[in-house]
Amino acid sequence: MSGALLAQARGVVKTFRAGSLLRGRAETRALDAVDFDLYRGEVVALIGESGSGKTTLGKVLLRLTSIEGGSVRFEGDDLFALGRGALRHRRRDFQMVFQNQAANLHPAMTVREMMDESLRLHRPDLDAAGRGRRTQELLDRVGLGARADQRPGSLSGGERRRAGLARILATRPKLVVADEPTSGLDAAIKLQIIDLLRNLKDPELTYLVISHDLGLVRRIADRVLVMLKGRIIEEVPVAELGSSAFHHPYTQKLARAAEFLEDRDPLQAKASTFDPDAPSTGAAAPVGCVFAADCQLAARLGILERCSTRRPALVALAPGHRVACFAAETPVEDVR
Ligand SMILES: Nc1ncnc2c1ncn2[C@@H]1O[C@H](COP(=O)(O)OP(=O)(O)OP(=O)(O)O)[C@@H](O)[C@H]1O
Ligand code: SF4
Ligand SMILES: [Mg+2]
Repeated sequence: MSGALLAQARGVVKTFRAGSLLRGRAETRALDAVDFDLYRGEVVALIGESGSGKTTLGKVLLRLTSIEGGSVRFEGDDLFALGRGALRHRRRDFQMVFQNQAANLHPAMTVREMMDESLRLHRPDLDAAGRGRRTQELLDRVGLGARADQRPGSLSGGERRRAGLARILATRPKLVVADEPTSGLDAAIKLQIIDLLRNLKDPELTYLVISHDLGLVRRIADRVLVMLKGRIIEEVPVAELGSSAFHHPYTQKLARAAEFLEDRDPLQAKASTFDPDAPSTGAAAPVGCVFAADCQLAARLGILERCSTRRPALVALAPGHRVACFAAETPVEDVR
């Protein structure tokens, strides 16, 4: 973590209530006292099964949804305490890339016109000539320099995504939350987008990339956060990924299942994903460890009682590596 602290979440709680008054309202704790830090210039990947709370966490970080507890600070400002004016001002620093980002392109405008529109809004310091130069620079950066005068309808799926990214970069954000940036793309286009995200790394730009795709994560992220049932259960620096990278039994299981530890060709990496159809939480938060009901290790170590009744805190195993598991206190060779 080389850069300065950019954002900090502490004890964030987000609960959804769904259903009807007649049938009863089920409560889902989408975020269950989540803590994490983001540093300037880093790319952090958020991974975890469907329904684990990844998108909700991304939205909370940009104050796109409310929270019931905890706080989120962005450059020291308490985001949920900001007044309307200050929040509007702050929002210029954030961008969220949704899965259907390409749909946000205006069908009747050329790429150049859309870029100019974004720059007009976010870069009042630039005159027309300055906007023109910046447009060309950003389009060259995403490999669309020769497509500036085309409309979205005549661009390929990958080119549309790249145009969407160029538009986002035009706003000069400090933080981009990219929610499943490669989902729905075929393998070749996916590789282009991965390369592009890698090339767009910038000391002034921080990314939180939400993904089921472990191949993507491995290629672009500096750090991985693993979520399960509304909690962050493990944090690992990507540089350390190797046969013993993960210590949490749940993460180990997923990594093995996804063959994450094999150096696979990304074109063949269909298996290197979490199962997006895995069951979502849909239940109240457990008191103890979220994995206690399925954890064979807890039974083997004879600590199931403790695991079911007490919540394991995220504790540091090494610099940048934190795990929420009581067994992490046990020597590593036993945690298999
Ligand atoms: N608007 C909503 N109303 C009710 N429940 C919601 C809402 N949004 C999310 N949830 C619930 O909160 C939990 C976390 O959802 P979230 O979308 O953050 O998961 P996710 O990890 O992004 O999943 P996926 O990988 O499928 O996108 C899920 O149980 C989901 O059903
Ligand atoms: S805290 Fe206990 S139940 Fe949870 S993963 Fe660790 S050993 Fe298993
Ligand atoms: Mg999601």
